[in-house]
Order: sequence, then structure tokens, then C-alpha cells
Amino acid sequence: MNPEQWIAVDQYITDALVPADPVLEAALKASADAGLPAINVSPAQGKFLHLLARIHGARTILEVGTLGGYSTIWLARGMLPAGGKVVTLEVDPKHVRVARANFEHAGLARMIEVREGRALDTLPQLVTEGRGPFDLIFIDADKVRIPEYFTWALQLSRRGTVIIVDNVIRKGAVTDANTSDPSVQGVRQLNAMLATEKRVSATTLQTVGAKGYDGFTLAVVN
Ligand code: SAH
Ligand code: DHB
Ligand code: MG
Repeated sequence: MNPEQWIAVDQYITDALVPADPVLEAALKASADAGLPAINVSPAQGKFLHLLARIHGARTILEVGTLGGYSTIWLARGMLPAGGKVVTLEVDPKHVRVARANFEHAGLARMIEVREGRALDTLPQLVTEGRGPFDLIFIDADKVRIPEYFTWALQLSRRGTVIIVDNVIRKGAVTDANTSDPSVQGVRQLNAMLATEKRVSATTLQTVGAKGYDGFTLAVVN
């Protein structure tokens, strides 16, 4: 196995199962044109998030880390049309601008609220405002803060809330207990929390594909 093969197989899966979609492709193009980094989830991963939202019957979704809104659009489309609402948190004003334009173009602006600011500021705001509990929470911002985002996510959860954390394998670096990479330390701290956290049941899957070797954690609130 090698990365070229992962990419070829990912392309094959995408061709077979993820039909070309002008709105999603336009969102990626607008993001690239604006100079945003291509660190969105892959099409197959986006559809996976979408299917999780559908399976769960999610009506309220919280996302931490919007970028150009590619994953947001997948998630929003996974909700029941009546009354679904996504709140997505983003610190970079340029990313917010691009995402909002993408949501307009997708016809989803009414159901997606983008909150600009550091997630460590906007998450407590949501709690103060009595927002939540959310049905599904996708954590995909700066990796060093994953443990704090997860703690806030628990505060914004109910029994049955699904929490997904992206980028928890980091090319396998996660097994290095002596890592000096703060992002990897963030993931390892999450796993230390999960090991003793009685409020959730969780597992992690490794993934390979167009986005390299990484993975996600899936947790459900007990
Ligand atoms: N979920 C997106 C990708 C998100 S990339 C997708 O798959 O399409 C991570 C995003 O988190 C970036 O846009 C980055 O600006 C944002 N981010 C980084 N630190 C943040 C913080 N402290 N608060 C909120 N957003 C943050
Ligand atoms: C990075 C962030 C992501 O959310 C991702 O899926 C891949 C890479 C990054 O910050 O490098
Ligand atoms: Mg990610």
C-alpha cells in the first residue's frame, strides 16, 4: 500500500458513490480561488458526515472550524428539511466571508449560522445563550484545542448527541508519547480524557485517501 494507491481508490469510491455536485464543487473552487488551504474533508468523508446526520435524524448541528463551509454543506444537507439548523464557528474573517457566500450559493444560508471568533470565545457564548443541546457536533478546528472543544461540546450535548473529532491520527504520529507537536499532544490528551470519561462511549477509525493518513473519533453521549 502507498499514498498513490489510497488516492486512486478514494477517486474510484468517489466516482462510484459520490455523484458530482455543482454546489459542492463551486464551494471548493471559491475556497481555492480565495486562497484557502485545501484542508476540507474529502468528498467521501463529507458524504460520511452527511450520512451520519441523516442516520441520526439530526435537527441541530454544531461545527467547530468552518473553513469554506464544505463539510458544513454536507452536514446541513443531511438534516431534515423542516427546521434544521447548523451553527458553525470560525476564527478567520476571510474564511467566514467565503463560507457565507458558499452557503448563499448553496441555498442554505437560512439554515446555517456562522459565528466569527475564536471557538474558545464563541462556545461559552452558546452556553450562556442557552443554545443547544445539539444533536451532532463536528470538531475540526485547531487540533491543540481539541480537549477544550470536546469539553465544551459535552456541555452543549444531551444523551444521544453524536460528537465527531477530525484529524486524530496525524499520519500515525498519535502513538508517539514523547511528541513535541502540539496538535498531536491535543489528540493524545483527548484520548486520555476519553479513557476515563464516563459520559461518552467512543471509538476511533483510521482513514487513508486523498487527504493522506488520518482518522476520526466518533463518540456518543451516554
Ligand atoms: N470543517 C472544514 C475544515 C476546517 S479547517 C471542512 O472540512 O470543510 C479548520 C478551520 O478551523 C480553519 O478554517 C481555521 O481557520 C479554523 N480555526 C482555527 N483555529 C480556530 C479557532 N481558535 N476558533 C475557530 N476556528 C478556528
Ligand atoms: C489540517 C486541518 C484539518 O482540519 C484537516 O482535516 C487537515 C489538516 C491542518 O491544520 O493542517
Ligand atoms: Mg479536518
